[in-house]
Amino acid sequence: MMKGLVCGTCGYVAINGTAPDKCPVCQSPKEVFEEKDAIMTAENEGPTEKHVPVLKVIKQCGLIGEGCTDVHAKVGDIPHPMEPDHYIVFVDFYVDKEWVERVHLTPNLNPAAGAHVKASTGKLTAIEFCNKHGYWINEVDL
Ligand SMILES: [Fe+2]
Repeated sequence: MMKGLVCGTCGYVAINGTAPDKCPVCQSPKEVFEEKDAIMTAENEGPTEKHVPVLKVIKQCGLIGEGCTDVHAKVGDIPHPMEPDHYIVFVDFYVDKEWVERVHLTPNLNPAAGAHVKASTGKLTAIEFCNKHGYWINEVDL
């Protein structure tokens, strides 16, 4: 389990240790952030249902070229359910602990998301939020 500063409005998690003046996802003020020891890692995973994002880095970006990288995140090596009462709500992507992109998911989609990031080096982090089982994190080198 890891600590994070969680936005009380949209669920964004600041992972760099400080609450931003404004939430980068929903623009809520600093005051709505609360520290929670609620970000789960591979160590918290059960044997059957999987939540940790499996990350795949595609060095050759399909759109821009130099300086860009695509990242694919699949939730669980056993794909997570996407049912109306139990699904992955969003996946947030960060580079070097700074937020870059959120992908919203709905129950009719696959438990997977892609991000196109303006970086070719650094640490890529993904946090996914399951409506039943909370936050799960993973990271990979770009
Ligand atoms: Fe779940």
